[in-house]
Amino acid sequence: MSDSLLRRKIIVRDQPHGHGLARTLSWPHLVALGVGAIVGTGILTLIGVGADKAGPAVILSFVVAGLICACAALAYAEMATMIPASGSAYTYSYVVIGELIAWVVGWSLILEYSLVVSAVAVGWSGYAAPLLHAWADVPMTLMQGPELGGIVNLPAVAIIAVVAGMLLFGTRESATVNAILVLVKIAALVVFVAVALPAFNAANLEPFSPYGFAKHMGADGVERGVMAAAAIIFFAFYGFDAIATAAEETKNPDRDLKIGIVGSMIACVIIYIAVAVAAVGAVSYSRFANSPEPLALILRELGQARAAQYLGISAVVALPTVILAFFFGQSRIFFTMARDGLLPASLAKLSARGTPVRITIFTAIVVAILAGFIPLDELAALANAGTLAAFTAVSVCMLIMRVRAPQAPRTFRAPMPWVIGTIAVLGCFYLFLSLPVKTQTWFGIWNVAGLAVYFLYARRNAVAT
Ligand code: ALA
Repeated sequence: MSDSLLRRKIIVRDQPHGHGLARTLSWPHLVALGVGAIVGTGILTLIGVGADKAGPAVILSFVVAGLICACAALAYAEMATMIPASGSAYTYSYVVIGELIAWVVGWSLILEYSLVVSAVAVGWSGYAAPLLHAWADVPMTLMQGPELGGIVNLPAVAIIAVVAGMLLFGTRESATVNAILVLVKIAALVVFVAVALPAFNAANLEPFSPYGFAKHMGADGVERGVMAAAAIIFFAFYGFDAIATAAEETKNPDRDLKIGIVGSMIACVIIYIAVAVAAVGAVSYSRFANSPEPLALILRELGQARAAQYLGISAVVALPTVILAFFFGQSRIFFTMARDGLLPASLAKLSARGTPVRITIFTAIVVAILAGFIPLDELAALANAGTLAAFTAVSVCMLIMRVRAPQAPRTFRAPMPWVIGTIAVLGCFYLFLSLPVKTQTWFGIWNVAGLAVYFLYARRNAVAT
């Protein structure tokens, strides 16, 4: 039995991706790809949740989460160029560590991708709802979940249905559409900074860190502190797997991947910190804490209704690409695990359009129900838990392979691997500890369920490698 738990996957070259993909991408494309998948609900909405947990020191939360995510991104890039096969963290773990850990990582990725779809849909709804309310008189109770006094978040359900429909019709991310939407998102954030920063008032930063650094329970039962906020804000930084998986289409992977991943991370850190400084400097953080559309609210507070509307429309137009990217990633993970026999192949069967229809519809129904009723911060926190597990595994894989196969070819090598790898592993662990206890409990329950599926089904059906 222990043999099967530790058995490792040997095939590493992937059929659909491995053959002769044209090397057309250079680093500017990769930066656009990364920024396109990364910038979303994290900066547009969770900044309000972060402000509630950390006060103006949410700026520090961005720095901490960004640093840890950047280290994990470098480990990711190294593993992606070493094992260019679909399945990302799950496949790396299967090749490097063994089946049981690979299962836990794959099960975590399913959680991550599914809940990012729900969370970004709720974030989208936060910006769409005021527009729908103003233009079509849709009652707010039908556009907010129960925690905000509503009944159900119908726009979030609707956008998931639309994106699932696009996937079923075979829509893939298009480089041109992505590039345009990246510009839309960045332009909206630049407008925000340009309008909010001149209103900067240092008094709004006092006291800078009202809830201290480490996570602790506040008197009102909410976990607070810079780290509690960082554990949520972490959501804003991931999505760069998009770049790692483009390794085989990159003209000069060694140089371009490095610039692409580090470049998009640095670009996001700079943009995010500029937005965070402008936001907390413009109005007291308590005004936009936990708002469903904090950046638009700040602009309205500054008397800039038109800029607020422009920002809202930009979010509504651009956020669905983040949903599409993660929805697609979910079906890809599911497909890879089913190909390895760990999940039922019938569920991952592809349609003529190359989409796994059943799993797409099943996922859509589940994530739409979650988006309809669960608050954004809880969805994002649980998505983060799954992501942290995957990032930890990838970083550990990088370190193991540096010892086990130091000379094996890698088109990209992370600089200072032991420093980077250690920061990534310990940082992810600290972020996990900083998540709400409720999230940690749900993550535990998810994994117990996963282990039950593993021992009752997956282990017996795994295709021996
Ligand atoms: N980083 C992505 C976002 O903020 C998931 O929406």
